[in-house]
Amino acid sequence: MKIAVYPGSFDPLTNGHLDILKRAASLFDHVIVGVLVNSNKKCLFSPEERVDMINDAIHDLENVRVMHFNGLMVDFCEKVGATAVIRGLRAVSDYEYEVQMFAANYHLNSKVETVFLMSQPKYSFLSSSVVKEIAYYGGNINEMVTPGIAELLKKRMKE
Ligand code: PNS
Repeated sequence: MKIAVYPGSFDPLTNGHLDILKRAASLFDHVIVGVLVNSNKKCLFSPEERVDMINDAIHDLENVRVMHFNGLMVDFCEKVGATAVIRGLRAVSDYEYEVQMFAANYHLNSKVETVFLMSQPKYSFLSSSVVKEIAYYGGNINEMVTPGIAELLKKRMKE
């Protein structure tokens, strides 16, 4: 049984994340979305809200489940029996950060392999930060996130 973890902040999940997740789900027996709790980043949504919104978005993916985690990602992988980590790459600008994270994780636990999937070109500009900024200024985010997440974002921006 090949289990992969797809870790991230997912504040919020974008359609780019969802695309990577669907493709990972076709490659592995099980994919566990790991929502980081103890991030240095100040998040717009709580870990519970992020887990709920991802659960809503993946109801048609039978081999995917969502959990939140604290601490090191390699420890989370060990806890859930995962031997691979999925990361999406959008552009060369992602590479430096990702290669550093890969090296740190490999140093910590070389049994956990990192698998990089390239984003579809149509999602290469998309990030949670871009979506939040567009939502903040009242722009159209309908093709960037699921309808449910778009509603939650609009509501949160009004608060
Ligand atoms: O979506 P993000 O914010 O780019 O995801 C980053 C994430 C959550 C994958 C990364 O910050 C992470 O794994 N954090 C947990 C701590 C850890 O294991 N760091 C890697 C060694 S430096």
